[in-house]
Amino acid sequence: MDIKLQQVSFAYSMGTPFEKRALFDVDLMIPSKTYQAIIGHTGSGKSTILQHFNGLLKPSEGEVHIGDRVIVAGKKAKELKPIRQKVGIVFQFPEHQLFEETVLKDIMFGPMNFGVSEEEAKKRARELISLVGLPDSVLEKSPFDLSGGQMRRVAIAGVLALQPEVIVLDEPTAGLDPRGQREIMDMFYQLHKEQGLTTILVTHSMEDAAKYADNLAIMHEGRCVLTGTPREIFADGKTLESYRLELPRIIKFQQKIENLIGKKLSKICLTEEELALEIASSVRRESDEQ
Ligand SMILES: Nc1ncnc2c1ncn2[C@@H]1O[C@H](COP(=O)(O)OP(=O)(O)OP(=O)(O)O)[C@@H](O)[C@H]1O
Ligand SMILES: [Mg+2]
Repeated sequence: MDIKLQQVSFAYSMGTPFEKRALFDVDLMIPSKTYQAIIGHTGSGKSTILQHFNGLLKPSEGEVHIGDRVIVAGKKAKELKPIRQKVGIVFQFPEHQLFEETVLKDIMFGPMNFGVSEEEAKKRARELISLVGLPDSVLEKSPFDLSGGQMRRVAIAGVLALQPEVIVLDEPTAGLDPRGQREIMDMFYQLHKEQGLTTILVTHSMEDAAKYADNLAIMHEGRCVLTGTPREIFADGKTLESYRLELPRIIKFQQKIENLIGKKLSKICLTEEELALEIASSVRRESDEQ
């Protein structure tokens, strides 16, 4: 399911003295089954933009295309429920939205609300709890007796239980320890590949953007100022700096090596593995030439 924003502008509390414009003329195309990262300084409009992806917010101007549905500014959009099932959003600190007495009921709530049978909802909850890396025994506990990291995993299972085609992640690992962060990001990447999901990740982590995303979009003061592949975007550190963003550590490291050896490697490396291979082949070429 492609998602396309055309000339989207958005203002909070429009027409009141508190009107606050948060998006300006955003054009963005996210093809089906791709992994899109959205990056930007705090307050640049990332959380605002992603609430347009399932109709939670409607554009003040412009159009949002979600698969074959179009949400147009100024027109009443009817029946958004199917879109909410197809596009699942994991909000910042999703654990704040847990509310049921048990983890099992919490995960079952979404699917049952969309008409899935109790039996099927239970089955999904059991499968998902292990997918998000928690033991079965957690299902009968109160979500409020769990650790922060466990609650986050339960909230994620609740979104996955709707079996969305598009999954939108707003800083999904904020506040988790490094190992938990890696486990959750790897889990989403595996799901992305295995289930052919479209994944949209809002992140402050340039490392995650470099490692997982097919395409990046840079937000700055409510505008989408730059789009491209990670290699394209990270080739120009100066432009990123002008948006108060930094290059991923791995690319800074590559630049340091290039300065020390006095030559450029043949490509920008996005992971440690890529950089190690690139250095090895550069060294090998050199010794062949001698
Ligand atoms: N409910 C709201 N009412 C009024 N203004 C808002 C509201 N939510 C966000 N804003 C404003 O809209 C702008 C964009 O906010 P948004 O939350 O989309 O930024 P963000 O890029 O997600 O930031 P962060 O990285 O801190 O999560 C900011 O200036 C913010 O103050
Ligand atoms: Mg935000």
